[in-house]
Amino acid sequence: MDVSKLMFRDGLMKGERILVTGGGTGLGREMAEAFLKLGATVYICGRRQNKLDETAAELTALHAKDSGGKIVGMACDIRDPDAIHAMVDAIWADGGALTGVVNNAAGNFISRTEDLSVNGFNAIADIVMRGTFYVTLDIGKRLIAEKKKASFLSILTTWVWSGSAFVVPSAMSKTAINAMTQSLATEWGRYGLRFNAIAPGLFPTKGMSARLNPGGSGGNSNNAMNPMGRAGEMHELANLAVFLMGPGAEYVNGQTIAIDGAGFQATGGTFYPMLHALGDAEWEQMRAMIKGTNAK
Ligand code: HXC
Repeated sequence: MDVSKLMFRDGLMKGERILVTGGGTGLGREMAEAFLKLGATVYICGRRQNKLDETAAELTALHAKDSGGKIVGMACDIRDPDAIHAMVDAIWADGGALTGVVNNAAGNFISRTEDLSVNGFNAIADIVMRGTFYVTLDIGKRLIAEKKKASFLSILTTWVWSGSAFVVPSAMSKTAINAMTQSLATEWGRYGLRFNAIAPGLFPTKGMSARLNPGGSGGNSNNAMNPMGRAGEMHELANLAVFLMGPGAEYVNGQTIAIDGAGFQATGGTFYPMLHALGDAEWEQMRAMIKGTNAK
C-alpha cells in the first residue's frame, strides 16, 4: 500500500492494541500495515505461521522503527474455539487487553448452489459466520469482565443487503455477521464495546481473484460496471478502517459502511448478470481451478 495516501497523522494509533484476523494476506494485511504505520501494536492471525512471520517481518522492516508500533503473527484457525482462547491468552499475556478487533478472516468461492455439498457450505460458514462469532465472543467476554472499552470491525460485503447469486454461503454468513454487528452494538454498547462493519466492493487480492474470478472468467472484474470505472485502492479501505478503529470515532456504533464506488447501486451487488450464462463445462473448469488454490 502507498502509506503516503493515509489521511491520518503519525502516532494516531499509539497505545491501540488491535487483532486482525486473516491479517497475513489480502485486505487484512493492508489494514494491519496502516495500523502499524500509525503506531499501534498489531496482532495478525491466520492458519500459517510462516506466512504470518513473513508478513510481520516485512511490515516491521517498513514501519515499526519509525512508528513505535509492533506487529506479531500468531497462528490460529478461527474455526477452533480452543485455539482462539489460547491465542487471546497469549495476546493478553503480551501486554494486556486488546482495544480493537478486526474480523477480517473469510473464505469464499463461486459455485452454482446446486453444485454445493453440505461440506462446501460449512467450509465457508465455519470460517465466516461461526469463526467470527467465536473470536468476538472470547474477546468480548474478557473485555466485559475487565471493564475495558474496545472497537470491533467486521469486513463484510455489499451482499449483506442484496444477497448474491453464486456465492450463497458467503452472502448468508456475512449477512449473519451484519446482524451480529447491529445486535451487539446495542447489547454491548453499554460496556463501551462498539461494533461496526465495512462492506467493500472490488478490492482485488490474490486470494479473492483465485476463487471469485478464476482464470479471468468469474466476472467480478468488470470495472466498466462500476460508476467510478475502477476497483478500490487499498489506502481507501485502510483509511476507513483507521477512522472506525481510531480514537475520535467512539460514537459511531452499529453501522455497516459500503466502500465500493457505488457499485452496489449500479449492479444490485450480485454476480447474477455475469455468471448466469455459463454452462456445465465452464463451471466444472472453474471449480477445478478454484480447488487448486484451496489452502495455499
Ligand atoms: C464447490 C467446493 C469448492 C468449489 C471447495 N469445495 N471448493 N465446492 N466448488 N470451488 C467443497 C469441497 O468439495 C468440500 O466438500 C468442501 O468444500 C471442503 O473442501 P476443502 O478443499 O477441504 O476446503 P477447505 O480446505 O476448507 O478450503 C476452502 C476454503 C479455501 C476455506 C474456501 O478456499 C480457503 O482457505 N479460503 C480462504 C481464502 C479465501 O477464500 N479468500 C477469498 C475471500 S473473498 P466435499 O463435499 O467434497 O467434502 C471474500 C469476499 C469477496 O470473502 C467479496 C468481493 C465483493
